[in-house]
This record gives sequence, C-alpha cells and structure tokens, in this order.
Amino acid sequence: MNTKIFEIYDLDEKSRAELDIAGDAVKDGKLVIFPTETVYGLGADATNPTAVKNIYVAKGRPSDNPLIIHISEPHEAERYAYTSTLYYMLAEKFMPGPLTVILNAKDTVPPITRGGLDTVAVRCPSSIVARELIKRAGVAVAAPSANLSGTPSPTSSEHVIKDMVGRVDVIIASAECEIGLESTIVKIESEDSVTLLRPGAITVDQLCEVENEVAIADAVTDNLGEGDRPLSPGMKYRHYAPKAELVLVDADREDFIKTVLSDTAEDVAVISYSEYIAEFLSADKKIDVYDFGSSDDEIVQARNLFSILRKTDEKSYTRIYAPLPKKDGMGLALYNRMIRAAAHKIIRLRR
Ligand code: TXA
Ligand code: MG
Repeated sequence: MNTKIFEIYDLDEKSRAELDIAGDAVKDGKLVIFPTETVYGLGADATNPTAVKNIYVAKGRPSDNPLIIHISEPHEAERYAYTSTLYYMLAEKFMPGPLTVILNAKDTVPPITRGGLDTVAVRCPSSIVARELIKRAGVAVAAPSANLSGTPSPTSSEHVIKDMVGRVDVIIASAECEIGLESTIVKIESEDSVTLLRPGAITVDQLCEVENEVAIADAVTDNLGEGDRPLSPGMKYRHYAPKAELVLVDADREDFIKTVLSDTAEDVAVISYSEYIAEFLSADKKIDVYDFGSSDDEIVQARNLFSILRKTDEKSYTRIYAPLPKKDGMGLALYNRMIRAAAHKIIRLRR
C-alpha cells in the first residue's frame, strides 16, 4: 500500500487542504493515522465495518478488543450512544481532552467497532488536528493507538512512520504527543457512580470533583487471575512490553542505585530519574542510562516513557531497571503501564 505522509503542525492553507484529503480518505473507508494529545491513533470510519476490520489487520490486533470512537464535539455522542446527565457533567469538565467514556451503544455503531459488546467507548480529543480531521470525515473516527499490537503506543511521528508506512493510506505527522500516555477510561455505571478502567492524565482526584463515587477496576493495579474476565478487554493483553526484561524497583535513591549497579549481567540499562543520572555515569560498572525526568515530575515521565521503551528495543539489553511509580495522581497511569511492561516483576526494598 502506498502511504501518503502529510506534515501538519498548524492550520495554514496547505494543512487545511491536506486535512480535506485525509477527511475524504476516512469517508472512503481508508485508514488514516492522526495525532492526538495522548498518543497517535489509527483511524477509520467507525460506522463502516470493512474499514474497521482493516484497522485490526493493520495493527495485527485481535478483533475482540473494542475501539474508541473519536468525536469532534461532546454532543456528537448522541449519534452513537445513550448519553446521560453524568456524561455531560464529565464532558463539561474534561472534554475536549484525554477522557474516554463508556456508554451504551446505539445501532449506528457496528458490532466490530465495539468488539461485540453492547457498549461503546467515546472520546473527544483536544488535539486541533484530530478534531479538524473528524469534522471533515463527518463521522466518528474509530481509532486504537497506532502501534503494531504488542509495541508501545506511538507518541511521535517517527514512531508511527517506523511501524505503519505501507500499512495505512495516510499518516498525519505532527508534533510529539503532549501527554504521551493513553486517555483515562471510565465507565458510567449509574447516574451516581463511575468505574475507572484505565488511568490516564485525568486523575482519580479530578474525576472525584465531578462524581464522588469513583471505583477503580482491579485490573488497573493488579494482575488478572487465570480466567478472570476484565471489564475492559484490552486489560488482558500483556501490553507495552519491551524486548528486554524490565524490572521495577521500589526503593529510595540509595537502594535503587545499589540494586541496579549490583546486577552482574553485561548489558544492563536503567530508566533513571534525572537526579540519579550523574551517579550512574560515574560508577565503575558501565550501563546505559535513559533520562526518565525529574523524580517529582510525573507529567514529564509520562511523556518520556513510551519513547524510552522504544529506544531500548533498538538495543539488546539483558535487563532494564526502572523506578516503581507511586499510585497517586498521574503516577497511577505510569504505574499501570509499567507493571504491564514489566509483567509485574517488582523488587520491593522499602521498609
Ligand atoms: O488515548 C487514547 O485513548 C488513544 C488515542 C488514539 O485516542 N486510543 C487508545 O485506543 O488507547 P486503544 O484501542 O489502544 O485502547 C482502547 C482501550 C482498550 O483497552 C479497549 O479494550 C478499551 O479501550 N475499550 C474500548 N471499548 C470498550 C468498551 N466498550 N468497554 C470497555 N473497554 C473498552
Ligand atoms: Mg493501544
């Protein structure tokens, strides 16, 4: 397949003309990769079963894993789902933005888009390029993250170009994604409770400001037991896994550094808080160091994580160490992604 690549950073005349072409491509049932504030998405007309099937093929993804449909304004959800007062309260506060809401689906959404469920995931991204594309498509755009299944979600145009050229019709290359982790997903259970299915940049504390009953699905922080059925089908896959063994270390600075440096394997790397880097670089043992960001800056860590994991995949490390994130604020999203990437390998040294 011949992939058109458009570089779109603002809405000048050239970009608008290219967005017209990309919008027409969606209308024609083609695949279009587009930037969002979270990660890049691999989009197609959410109401066209053939187009949606091609998304699964391009990603190499099992088709029982439902997709998020992207809309350009919160009220467009009406066409595809049964909304409620609570939906509009969440929308008022967090849309456009990195929040996905699971609602009961209308028949306009074909079963393949929702993985056979009777619910559908709806999200209105804040990325202007994404919203302009959706407007031009004139329909909701179904899109998973634009990575090959099993690799980290793409947060830069280099990532999508590397994974997806030849597999899709159009790639809209744009700036690096501001957030770098996928959207927060909540399911509206009733008019007075929501369940968090996937943590993201919209935190539990923020959700509590709208609805004080926020349950956290077990799979957000735990291992799923054999045969357990997760609320969100995506949670059962070992996502975001780097090639090397990733080990998370729950320790203070001194113990963290000691643990990493005492690994006798030859090819070891560390994803290190910025403040620790000098110590790793001056140590006798030679290890590769990736800057995770300052220890108290989870926004920057979130932006860096997937990009670092991709970089480590270009090398052949035996083991990669990283700090275990805290479970509050944006830390919960990091924790959720990192325990999966590490397949739950955690060294606990905190007393
Ligand atoms: O930030 C994001 O959400 C990105 C960008 C592109 O918008 N998209 C994204 O899509 O992360 P994806 O397909 O990689 O992850 C969507 C997750 C999956 O884990 C899927 O199982 C879950 O949402 N999901 C989708 N529809 C659902 C539904 N009806 N009920 C429960 N979970 C659902
Ligand atoms: Mg994904």
